Amino acid sequence: MKATLIIKNIDNLITLKGENKARVKEELKDIGLIKNGIIALNKDKILYVGEGELPSDITLDESTIILDGTGKTVTPGLVDSHTHLVHGGSRENELAMKLKGIPYLDILAAGGGIHSTVKATKNASFEELYNQAKKSLNTMLSFGVTTVEAKSGYGIDDFETEIKQLEVAKHLNEDHPVDIISTFMGAHAIPNAYKDNSDEFVDIIINDMIPKVAQKKLAKFCDVFCEEGVFTIEQSKKILLAAREYGMGLKLHADEIKPLGGAELAAEIGCISADHLIAASDNGIKEMAKNGVIANLLPGTSFNLQTGNFAKARKMIEEGVPVSLSTDYNPGSCPTENIQLIMSFGALIMKLTPEEIITSVTINGAASLGLEEKIGSLESGKQGDLVIFDSPNLEYILYHFGINHVDKVVKKGEIVYT
Ligand code: NIG
Ligand code: FE
Repeated sequence: MKATLIIKNIDNLITLKGENKARVKEELKDIGLIKNGIIALNKDKILYVGEGELPSDITLDESTIILDGTGKTVTPGLVDSHTHLVHGGSRENELAMKLKGIPYLDILAAGGGIHSTVKATKNASFEELYNQAKKSLNTMLSFGVTTVEAKSGYGIDDFETEIKQLEVAKHLNEDHPVDIISTFMGAHAIPNAYKDNSDEFVDIIINDMIPKVAQKKLAKFCDVFCEEGVFTIEQSKKILLAAREYGMGLKLHADEIKPLGGAELAAEIGCISADHLIAASDNGIKEMAKNGVIANLLPGTSFNLQTGNFAKARKMIEEGVPVSLSTDYNPGSCPTENIQLIMSFGALIMKLTPEEIITSVTINGAASLGLEEKIGSLESGKQGDLVIFDSPNLEYILYHFGINHVDKVVKKGEIVYT
């Protein structure tokens, strides 16, 4: 079989080889590290991963691209499995309020926060949203991200805007090397018009929006912001169970600020992931472990909300919850596309080990999008998505924080960033 791209002499080839599933507990210790590694791709697929030289049945010709991995660390393409990629405007005007200590939920309740991005997204044209999201996607790619999840949720009761966001994500997925997985999140805030009758809005989401999004095949997942003053546990459950009827996978913004029991709900109804979990209860964590719900943790949001509270990542891992890490990129609670910074937060604040962190943004991130069979590890037959870091080892990427360590990104066998 002919190789189209080869990377040889790789100082640290981190394969994450193993079962195609989210890794927990002891499994997190083995990241399939190969010293003096070599990897060969044939077009968009991985052909061979090993040590030293290629086996003789793998051939090359003058068109084969050969890269030298000396001094480099190679990992699977990174997966950012929770973002609000497509939105209008930005919210740096909230900085002064944040510095005064005004809480996120108070800004939201006063009609700011998500509501102000709803206005900006409604007023933006398709092209403006497309160009703004494309710029962010380019930044994500430059940091090593090859697959991104993108939520709607800045239209809320303006369904046209919800659809506009999902259509932008769909077109970008077709045009841009990074793969985008879409999530419908009409239940992102209670619209002003339904302030005193949120159940009516819940019914609209269930009876009008979800069936239409499903019919247009615009979202693989459905998500709800389950939070005090936003959607209750009962409302979140109702919405997600309806989404399941239409074939969508389930996600939940759970226990981000107040401990409402979102983790327990995610376990009860079998969400693929529960995200945030800053205020998750010990019982909720146990229930998630029992039911294999992935904890998608977003330390950049904790950092930016400035409450000093972070999800109990170590406890989750010790209890056997599969953990992924993501940016939560959005204009309000986490305005950064830099997943490497989030990985450093995982280490420096959440005390996760380098092995746990790289697992959380590769195979476990892939699993939280239902893509573990296809991406998330470097093994023959899997998609050729990988990152070459200009870094002698994994620890250095996390330790030397706040900068970009990427040398090159390969997506489906092509060098798409250098
Ligand atoms: O994940 N919490 C709800 N949604 C986002 C924030 C969205 C926004 O503030 O615009 C989050 O934190
Ligand atoms: Fe979010």
